[in-house]
Amino acid sequence: MDGLFALNNHAKNMKDTITPRSDIVAVPLDQHGDLDYVELEAMGCRPDDVLDFSANINPYGPPPGVREAIAAAPIERYPDRETLALRRALSEQHSMPIEQIVAGNGAAELIWLATFAFIRPQDTIVVVGPTFGEYARCAALMGGRVQIVSAKAENDFIVSPEKIEQALKASHPRLAFICNPNNPTGTAIDPGLIAGWAAAHPATLFIIDEAYLDFTTGVTSTLQYRLPNILSLHSMTKTCAMAGLRLGYALGPQTIIDAISRARPPWSVNVVAQAAGLAALADTQHVRAAIGKLQQAKEELVDGLAGLGLSPVPSMTHYFLVDVGGGAQFRHRLLARRIQVRDCASFGLPAYARIAARRPEENAQLLAAIEKTGNEETICQPKS
Ligand SMILES: Cc1ncc(COP(=O)(O)O)c(C=O)c1O
Repeated sequence: MDGLFALNNHAKNMKDTITPRSDIVAVPLDQHGDLDYVELEAMGCRPDDVLDFSANINPYGPPPGVREAIAAAPIERYPDRETLALRRALSEQHSMPIEQIVAGNGAAELIWLATFAFIRPQDTIVVVGPTFGEYARCAALMGGRVQIVSAKAENDFIVSPEKIEQALKASHPRLAFICNPNNPTGTAIDPGLIAGWAAAHPATLFIIDEAYLDFTTGVTSTLQYRLPNILSLHSMTKTCAMAGLRLGYALGPQTIIDAISRARPPWSVNVVAQAAGLAALADTQHVRAAIGKLQQAKEELVDGLAGLGLSPVPSMTHYFLVDVGGGAQFRHRLLARRIQVRDCASFGLPAYARIAARRPEENAQLLAAIEKTGNEETICQPKS
């Protein structure tokens, strides 16, 4: 006890206290869709009671074999650090050598690792926005200077290729992040254009986040151009409905993949995620069929919202933006009815909500709730 007392006393008397890196305080907090467990607890609400339109996940669930594979996963062993079986299956699916594939604990981890491996302090990073917040967060964490090229509401959030070209020419960035199709707008850039930019700027690494590519028809991957400075990110979390498991992968030139692999923490893709990923890849038909149904359900939801006087922004994905006047209030009114949408303030779009279509019967519940809350005042207080 005496020792402890002396230590406490010493700490009190110390002039210097430990403080974090000064630049870490400026890094924006992570803000995403999905359920906020603290908020739900404060509302006395269980996660299972909420119908979630705020995370852009395939609502038809994982392929049936996934749960069986999870139950049989050898959790008493460390996972294969090289994720060999999974990468072999991905190699077959994408017709790419295994050396050009790295798996991660969700696509999010690969965004972090790519910034870790490539960004040096003061490097310029171009981000095409408004978009997924992790690109700018990670770039800031690594000491990069983020330059955002933003699409405008008056153009239905279709980004101007000229603006991107100007930014690339003016700042010769170390990295350029393009989410294609984009979150939250659901718009897409012609991959041929991206390939042209990559060819013209060989010293820039183009990180093309294709997490939602499988949810579209007619948008193709930039990988087809096989350029030495394009990395393509994928999220099985989204397509295979395994958000709780976390699984993503990156495809690209071996030198880039090697660099990312060096930056990895060990065992980040656990045995359960590896087994689930393998089972999902053995049943791609399930996901294809689900996405076909989802595209139809999205069109019907858009029509339903238009019938309520709202104007969803055209998107190529199953999610879309809607100008609701105030995204936070709209979200809170719906959450009081146990339905969640994404308030888009963190994207710099406070007037908007992002809605990801679900199954037709669930979409009908959303439409009914919006109709009921239409003229109500906010029922519960917004989150502080
Ligand atoms: C564009 C985009 N990329 C990556 C991710 C992260 O994917 P994962 O859940 O596989 O880490 C998200 C999640 O919302 C996303 O929207």
